[in-house]
Amino acid sequence: MQKTDKTRTPVTLSNIKSRKKSGERITMLTAYDYSTAVLVDRAGVDMILVGDSLGMVILGYDSTVPVTMEDMLHHSAAVRRGVNRALVVGDMPFMSYQVSPEEAVRNAGRFIKEAGCHAVKLEGGMNIAKTIERIVRAGIPVMGHIGLTPQTATALGGFKVQGRDEESARRLIRDARAVAEAGAFSLVLECVPSGIASAITEDIPIPTIGIGAGAGCDGQVLVTNDLLGLFPKFVPKFVKKYADLAPVIQEAITRFIDEVSKGEFPGDAHSFKGGEDLAEKIIRDYGR
Ligand code: KIV
Repeated sequence: MQKTDKTRTPVTLSNIKSRKKSGERITMLTAYDYSTAVLVDRAGVDMILVGDSLGMVILGYDSTVPVTMEDMLHHSAAVRRGVNRALVVGDMPFMSYQVSPEEAVRNAGRFIKEAGCHAVKLEGGMNIAKTIERIVRAGIPVMGHIGLTPQTATALGGFKVQGRDEESARRLIRDARAVAEAGAFSLVLECVPSGIASAITEDIPIPTIGIGAGAGCDGQVLVTNDLLGLFPKFVPKFVKKYADLAPVIQEAITRFIDEVSKGEFPGDAHSFKGGEDLAEKIIRDYGR
């Protein structure tokens, strides 16, 4: 079994960057709330992403597109309150960084100032490199994200693997270089053939974090709710379920309903005993 971190030494940006050389794999998982963040952090994950996947997983939307800055800041702040060790990355939602670099810097700053995040993530390659540069110049660490970029999945022709043909593989490599040159400290590669992801990992000087991008990346990220079997609506091919918690939770809730219906809950163990004499006296005083 994988050992969990017991040192509690906070993960720093330079620690993440140094893993490229040391070869020690980086782990990242999502969290959207305080309780989950506490568990994920205690287990020893290196980075926690407050992903805009919260749009689907937590808010019940069909995509990440409707997620707002206010949604992201609210959840990022809750996650940050639960984290002592991991580096917390806030995901910039659709249209919070595309309109202008100025607006992007302002919104990135809100993740740091208002939610206490350590870094932000945004989607895009060459098209967004100037914006990444501006945010980094403002002193805010940026994680890039290329390949399948869910915020613009419609423009990419749907939720499908990117970089399968030569033109799109070339574009991915140019995108990865542009993001690295713009000053990002790491790069998410989503739904990219493993050969292309490995080549990008060797080609650029910053760590790559794969999701559906094979084992050749410098690190791996998954949506925690997928890993725990808590989001049964859709399970992508790249997800490995390390637990199947949905039936466990449903069974517990069914038992609660059953026990309350039968008057079995709460029993003595979950009640504060006494008060009968006092209640009797008060009711007598008020008159029946
Ligand atoms: O929003 C998210 O959860 C993500 C990961 C899938 C990388 O962007």
